[in-house]
Amino acid sequence: MKIETENKIIKKIGEIADSRNVSAYLVGGYVRDLIMGKEGVDIDIMTEGDGIQFAKDVSKELGAELNSVYKNFETALLNYENYKIEFVSARKESYDRGSRKPLVETATLEEDLSRRDFTINALAASINKNNFGEVIDNFNGLKDIEAGIIRTPLDPFKTFDDDPLRIMRAVRFASKFNFRIEENTFKAITEMRGRLTDEGVVSQERITNEFLQILMTDKPSVGLDLLYRSGVMQEIFPEIAELEGVDQRNDYHHKNVFYHTLKVVDNISTKTDDLWLRFAALVHDIAKPRTKKFVEGTGWTFHSHEEVGARMMKKIFRKLKLPMTKLDYVEKLVRMHLRPIPLAKDDVTDSAIRRLAAEAGEELEDLLTLCRADITSKNPDKVSKFLENYDRVEKRILEVQEKDELRNFQSPVRGDEIMELFGLEPGKVIGIFKHRIEEAILEGEIPNEYGAAKEYLMKIKDEVLN
Ligand code: CTP
Repeated sequence: MKIETENKIIKKIGEIADSRNVSAYLVGGYVRDLIMGKEGVDIDIMTEGDGIQFAKDVSKELGAELNSVYKNFETALLNYENYKIEFVSARKESYDRGSRKPLVETATLEEDLSRRDFTINALAASINKNNFGEVIDNFNGLKDIEAGIIRTPLDPFKTFDDDPLRIMRAVRFASKFNFRIEENTFKAITEMRGRLTDEGVVSQERITNEFLQILMTDKPSVGLDLLYRSGVMQEIFPEIAELEGVDQRNDYHHKNVFYHTLKVVDNISTKTDDLWLRFAALVHDIAKPRTKKFVEGTGWTFHSHEEVGARMMKKIFRKLKLPMTKLDYVEKLVRMHLRPIPLAKDDVTDSAIRRLAAEAGEELEDLLTLCRADITSKNPDKVSKFLENYDRVEKRILEVQEKDELRNFQSPVRGDEIMELFGLEPGKVIGIFKHRIEEAILEGEIPNEYGAAKEYLMKIKDEVLN
């Protein structure tokens, strides 16, 4: 089989290879994606012999500068136009720059391909003129792409031993392409999962990076379920795995919290590509296992799970090495995920609506997206009824917001002014004044306006200062 590409850079690199008498190949994800009908911007070029020298030759011909050279890995990187072109020498050792086992030994094309992670990634295509596009497929990768199978080229125990991060990669590719993991490969994943978290083998950053990429696939439940069924989730994110043991029982349903969560994540993924909103969906019920209690006549209850869950986030962020700048956001969504539910009733006051809007602030829209995704009933009538409820809440919020522009709400009379007016030093009492004004506005006692707030301030002055 031959692949076809109109990519001019690849053709040009092929010509340079011809002029230098070098055999050069496209390899890895670019070939895979091309066969699946998608041309990417990450181009991996492999040469038999000195890949770094070839990279230097290419950059010279293109009049560009090489961005980096990794001698230990026989790799060089060139950013050119919008392409990221990586040059590698055919090699025998592991294929990942982050891996702790750097390459030393160069090898033939065949040897190199055999040491790659999966058959679908072990394809190469010549870019030399005489056989441009010809695919080298020593491990039936084409067939596996066709059939949708993730399989290692060699004995999976060997392939995963070379780089245990490939355990995560297998799941990521399965989730991304909705492929199934071949039995023996899956067995090796299950048996070798402990290697992922063994001290000093794979860094937490790399595991987390793969995990988040799984969360960014179109249907993350495919990957998350594979992680669970292989026991990998229990190793890397036990708090999620623990959700499996919990039934949310009431008179009609038995709902397993883990599978409910997967559904919520899938739901939200049809609405957003925001990683942190997806992450919030993943963890929104995370405290259910530790708050569950059986109450006679009611069933299982999970009192305060939203608050306990929010408080679990910091430790989880630390452990997974997630960016702390996203902690507040995720905590807030977890903490507030039940709040909009009771606001759908007809007799809800403006002030209750205001409180939600003011507290959610910038995250209001995301919160409602999460709430909608949280509806996982199998009964379509119920689903549409619950969705309508949120439409109603949203409408009410808009109405009230229009009335008093409550997003990023704070007292219209600022702290500085309060200090100046009453000749006060900075201190607690300023906060008390501001809080009282905000409360009065939220309760609807006064409008959210400067004049009214100042008048109110004068009214409560003596009471507060005494
Ligand atoms: N590779 C490998 N083992 C790894 C990492 C990478 O064998 N742990 C090989 C695979 O052949 C892979 C190629 O190196 O195709 C390039 O790796 P990478 O850029 O990480 O992934 P891609 O397959 O290109 O896929 P994607 O860009 O979608 O991540």
